[in-house]
Amino acid sequence: MARKFFVGGNFKMNGTQKSIADIISNLNNANLDPNTEVVLSPPALYLLLTRSQADPKFGVAAQNVFDKPMGAYTGELSVEQLHDCGVSWALVGHSERRVILKEDDDFAARKTKAAIDGGLGVILCVGETLEERESGKTVDVVTRQLGAVASRLSVQDWAKVVIAYEPVWAIGTGKVATTEQAQEVHAALRKFVADSISPSVAENIRIIYGGSVNDKNCQELAKQPDVDGFLVGGASLKPAFVDIINARL
Ligand code: PGA
Repeated sequence: MARKFFVGGNFKMNGTQKSIADIISNLNNANLDPNTEVVLSPPALYLLLTRSQADPKFGVAAQNVFDKPMGAYTGELSVEQLHDCGVSWALVGHSERRVILKEDDDFAARKTKAAIDGGLGVILCVGETLEERESGKTVDVVTRQLGAVASRLSVQDWAKVVIAYEPVWAIGTGKVATTEQAQEVHAALRKFVADSISPSVAENIRIIYGGSVNDKNCQELAKQPDVDGFLVGGASLKPAFVDIINARL
Protein backbone atom coordinates (compact mmCIF):
# COMPACT_ATOMS: atom_id res chain seq x y z
CA MET A 1 0.00 0.00 0.00
CA ALA A 2 1.38 3.40 -0.99
CA ARG A 3 1.88 5.82 1.86
CA LYS A 4 -0.26 8.96 1.57
CA PHE A 5 1.90 12.08 1.20
CA PHE A 6 1.59 14.23 4.35
CA VAL A 7 2.34 17.93 4.71
CA GLY A 8 2.10 19.77 8.01
CA GLY A 9 2.25 23.54 8.41
CA ASN A 10 3.81 24.51 11.73
CA PHE A 11 3.07 28.19 12.23
CA LYS A 12 5.05 28.18 15.51
CA MET A 13 4.51 31.41 17.55
CA ASN A 14 3.53 33.43 14.48
CA GLY A 15 0.35 35.02 13.20
CA THR A 16 -2.69 37.00 14.24
CA GLN A 17 -6.40 36.30 13.78
CA LYS A 18 -6.23 38.24 10.52
CA SER A 19 -3.06 36.67 9.07
CA ILE A 20 -4.11 33.14 10.02
CA ALA A 21 -7.56 33.66 8.51
CA ASP A 22 -5.83 34.84 5.31
CA ILE A 23 -3.59 31.75 5.18
CA ILE A 24 -6.61 29.50 5.66
CA SER A 25 -8.68 31.26 3.04
CA ASN A 26 -5.80 30.95 0.57
CA LEU A 27 -5.60 27.20 1.24
CA ASN A 28 -9.37 26.71 1.12
CA ASN A 29 -9.41 28.23 -2.36
CA ALA A 30 -6.25 26.62 -3.72
CA ASN A 31 -6.03 23.73 -6.13
CA LEU A 32 -4.40 21.12 -3.96
CA ASP A 33 -3.21 17.60 -4.70
CA PRO A 34 -6.07 15.41 -3.42
CA ASN A 35 -3.50 12.73 -2.61
CA THR A 36 -1.78 14.90 0.00
CA GLU A 37 -3.00 14.95 3.60
CA VAL A 38 -2.62 18.47 4.98
CA VAL A 39 -2.53 19.38 8.67
CA LEU A 40 -2.31 22.94 10.00
CA SER A 41 -0.70 23.76 13.32
CA PRO A 42 -1.36 27.31 14.53
CA PRO A 43 -0.53 28.65 18.00
CA ALA A 44 -2.95 27.20 20.58
CA LEU A 45 -4.91 30.45 20.83
CA TYR A 46 -5.92 30.10 17.16
CA LEU A 47 -6.77 26.38 17.07
CA LEU A 48 -10.53 27.04 17.29
CA LEU A 49 -10.38 29.74 14.63
CA THR A 50 -8.42 27.40 12.38
CA ARG A 51 -10.83 24.51 12.93
CA SER A 52 -13.86 26.66 12.22
CA GLN A 53 -12.46 28.37 9.12
CA ALA A 54 -10.43 25.62 7.45
CA ASP A 55 -12.11 23.27 5.01
CA PRO A 56 -12.90 19.99 6.83
CA LYS A 57 -10.45 18.18 4.53
CA PHE A 58 -7.61 19.83 6.48
CA GLY A 59 -6.54 18.41 9.80
CA VAL A 60 -5.62 20.68 12.70
CA ALA A 61 -2.71 20.00 15.04
CA ALA A 62 -1.79 21.46 18.41
CA GLN A 63 1.89 22.37 18.68
CA ASN A 64 2.04 20.74 22.08
CA VAL A 65 -0.06 18.64 24.45
CA PHE A 66 0.30 17.51 28.07
CA ASP A 67 0.48 13.93 29.27
CA LYS A 68 -1.95 14.28 32.21
CA PRO A 69 -5.74 14.18 31.71
CA MET A 70 -6.72 17.26 33.77
CA GLY A 71 -5.92 19.25 36.86
CA ALA A 72 -3.47 21.74 38.28
CA TYR A 73 -1.08 22.13 35.34
CA THR A 74 -0.96 25.85 34.65
CA GLY A 75 -0.47 26.71 31.02
CA GLU A 76 -0.99 23.22 29.62
CA LEU A 77 -3.69 21.74 27.37
CA SER A 78 -5.04 18.21 27.67
CA VAL A 79 -5.72 15.66 24.98
CA GLU A 80 -9.42 15.73 25.85
CA GLN A 81 -9.60 19.51 25.48
CA LEU A 82 -7.99 19.31 22.06
CA HIS A 83 -10.33 16.54 21.02
CA ASP A 84 -13.28 18.58 22.31
CA CYS A 85 -12.27 21.45 20.02
CA GLY A 86 -11.97 19.34 16.87
CA VAL A 87 -8.17 19.17 16.98
CA SER A 88 -7.17 15.73 15.77
CA TRP A 89 -3.37 15.92 15.81
CA ALA A 90 -0.57 17.08 18.10
CA LEU A 91 3.07 17.81 17.42
CA VAL A 92 5.27 16.13 19.98
CA GLY A 93 9.00 16.46 20.60
CA HIS A 94 9.70 19.42 18.35
CA SER A 95 13.33 20.42 18.79
CA GLU A 96 12.29 23.90 19.94
CA ARG A 97 10.59 22.20 22.88
CA ARG A 98 13.41 19.71 23.44
CA VAL A 99 16.15 22.37 23.26
CA ILE A 100 14.51 25.55 24.61
CA LEU A 101 11.99 24.03 27.04
CA LYS A 102 14.32 21.13 28.01
CA GLU A 103 11.75 18.41 27.29
CA ASP A 104 13.36 14.99 27.37
CA ASP A 105 12.85 11.79 25.36
CA ASP A 106 10.62 10.15 27.95
CA PHE A 107 8.38 13.21 28.30
CA ALA A 108 7.88 13.15 24.52
CA ALA A 109 7.10 9.45 24.79
CA ARG A 110 4.53 9.97 27.58
CA LYS A 111 2.83 12.76 25.64
CA THR A 112 2.72 10.61 22.52
CA LYS A 113 1.11 7.74 24.42
CA ALA A 114 -1.44 10.04 26.11
CA ALA A 115 -2.35 11.68 22.80
CA ILE A 116 -2.86 8.36 21.03
CA ASP A 117 -4.86 6.88 23.91
CA GLY A 118 -7.12 9.94 23.71
CA GLY A 119 -7.70 9.51 19.98
CA LEU A 120 -5.26 12.05 18.53
CA GLY A 121 -2.70 11.47 15.81
CA VAL A 122 0.87 12.47 16.64
CA ILE A 123 3.51 14.12 14.50
CA LEU A 124 6.56 12.95 16.41
CA CYS A 125 9.65 15.06 15.73
CA VAL A 126 13.19 13.74 15.99
CA GLY A 127 16.46 15.27 14.88
CA GLU A 128 20.11 15.84 15.68
CA THR A 129 22.02 19.04 16.44
CA LEU A 130 24.90 20.18 14.24
CA GLU A 131 27.41 19.00 16.84
CA GLU A 132 25.80 15.55 16.94
CA ARG A 133 25.84 15.33 13.13
CA GLU A 134 29.47 16.40 12.93
CA SER A 135 30.48 13.79 15.46
CA GLY A 136 28.73 11.06 13.45
CA LYS A 137 25.94 10.49 15.98
CA THR A 138 22.91 11.34 13.82
CA VAL A 139 21.42 7.86 13.58
CA ASP A 140 22.16 7.13 17.26
CA VAL A 141 20.35 10.30 18.33
CA VAL A 142 17.23 9.90 16.18
CA THR A 143 16.85 6.21 16.99
CA ARG A 144 17.32 6.95 20.71
CA GLN A 145 14.53 9.58 20.49
CA LEU A 146 12.29 7.17 18.58
CA GLY A 147 13.21 4.24 20.82
CA ALA A 148 12.01 6.11 23.91
CA VAL A 149 8.59 6.39 22.28
CA ALA A 150 8.67 2.79 21.06
CA SER A 151 9.11 1.62 24.63
CA ARG A 152 5.71 3.13 25.58
CA LEU A 153 3.61 2.38 22.48
CA SER A 154 1.86 -0.80 21.40
CA VAL A 155 2.37 -2.01 17.82
CA GLN A 156 -1.18 -0.82 16.96
CA ASP A 157 -0.48 2.68 18.32
CA TRP A 158 1.96 3.35 15.49
CA ALA A 159 -0.91 3.62 12.99
CA LYS A 160 -1.56 7.03 14.61
CA VAL A 161 2.01 8.32 14.29
CA VAL A 162 3.79 10.32 11.60
CA ILE A 163 7.53 10.64 12.22
CA ALA A 164 9.08 14.01 11.33
CA TYR A 165 12.84 13.98 10.81
CA GLU A 166 13.95 17.53 11.48
CA PRO A 167 17.69 18.13 11.76
CA VAL A 168 18.02 20.95 14.30
CA TRP A 169 20.69 22.67 12.20
CA ALA A 170 18.26 22.92 9.27
CA ILE A 171 15.31 24.43 11.14
CA GLY A 172 14.72 28.08 10.33
CA THR A 173 18.30 28.44 9.08
CA GLY A 174 17.77 28.26 5.33
CA LYS A 175 20.21 25.29 5.39
CA VAL A 176 18.15 22.41 4.07
CA ALA A 177 19.47 18.85 4.36
CA THR A 178 20.58 17.49 0.99
CA THR A 179 18.28 14.95 -0.58
CA GLU A 180 20.92 12.29 0.19
CA GLN A 181 21.19 13.33 3.85
CA ALA A 182 17.41 13.26 4.25
CA GLN A 183 16.97 9.93 2.46
CA GLU A 184 19.80 8.34 4.47
CA VAL A 185 18.26 9.23 7.83
CA HIS A 186 14.71 8.40 6.71
CA ALA A 187 15.89 4.97 5.57
CA ALA A 188 17.70 4.44 8.89
CA LEU A 189 14.55 5.39 10.80
CA ARG A 190 12.45 3.01 8.71
CA LYS A 191 14.94 0.21 9.31
CA PHE A 192 14.84 0.91 13.04
CA VAL A 193 11.03 0.70 12.96
CA ALA A 194 11.17 -2.56 10.99
CA ASP A 195 13.69 -4.13 13.37
CA SER A 196 12.33 -2.88 16.68
CA ILE A 197 8.58 -2.49 16.07
CA SER A 198 7.44 -4.44 13.01
CA PRO A 199 8.12 -4.66 9.26
CA SER A 200 4.52 -3.81 8.46
CA VAL A 201 4.57 -0.69 10.66
CA ALA A 202 7.80 0.32 8.87
CA GLU A 203 6.16 -0.15 5.49
CA ASN A 204 3.11 1.94 6.38
CA ILE A 205 4.42 4.73 8.61
CA ARG A 206 4.90 8.17 7.07
CA ILE A 207 8.36 9.67 7.67
CA ILE A 208 8.32 13.34 6.73
CA TYR A 209 11.18 15.81 6.50
CA GLY A 210 11.34 19.25 8.13
CA GLY A 211 13.94 22.00 8.14
CA SER A 212 13.97 24.93 5.67
CA VAL A 213 11.64 23.23 3.20
CA ASN A 214 10.47 25.68 0.55
CA ASP A 215 8.84 25.73 -2.86
CA LYS A 216 12.28 25.42 -4.54
CA ASN A 217 13.70 22.40 -2.73
CA CYS A 218 10.54 20.39 -2.03
CA GLN A 219 10.26 18.57 -5.35
CA GLU A 220 13.68 16.90 -5.22
CA LEU A 221 13.16 15.92 -1.59
CA ALA A 222 9.72 14.53 -2.40
CA LYS A 223 11.24 12.14 -4.95
CA GLN A 224 13.24 10.28 -2.32
CA PRO A 225 11.75 6.86 -1.70
CA ASP A 226 11.58 7.27 2.09
CA VAL A 227 10.44 10.91 2.18
CA ASP A 228 6.66 10.81 2.64
CA GLY A 229 6.00 14.51 3.07
CA PHE A 230 7.11 17.58 4.98
CA LEU A 231 6.76 19.52 8.19
CA VAL A 232 7.02 23.14 7.10
CA GLY A 233 7.68 26.10 9.38
CA GLY A 234 8.44 29.50 7.83
CA ALA A 235 7.19 28.65 4.34
CA SER A 236 3.81 27.48 5.68
CA LEU A 237 2.99 31.13 6.43
CA LYS A 238 3.43 32.08 2.78
CA PRO A 239 1.40 31.46 -0.38
CA ALA A 240 4.20 29.15 -1.60
CA PHE A 241 2.97 26.58 0.96
CA VAL A 242 0.54 25.52 -1.78
CA ASP A 243 3.48 24.50 -4.02
CA ILE A 244 4.94 22.42 -1.19
CA ILE A 245 1.62 20.63 -0.68
CA ASN A 246 1.65 19.96 -4.42
CA ALA A 247 5.29 18.83 -4.50
CA ARG A 248 4.35 15.48 -6.01
CA LEU A 249 2.10 16.81 -8.79
P1 PGA B 1 11.35 25.72 9.08
O1 PGA B 1 10.79 24.94 10.36
O2 PGA B 1 10.62 25.19 7.88
O3 PGA B 1 11.06 27.16 9.33
O4 PGA B 1 12.82 25.42 9.00
C1 PGA B 1 10.43 23.59 10.31
C2 PGA B 1 9.95 23.11 11.66
O5 PGA B 1 10.53 23.48 12.68
O6 PGA B 1 8.97 22.36 11.77
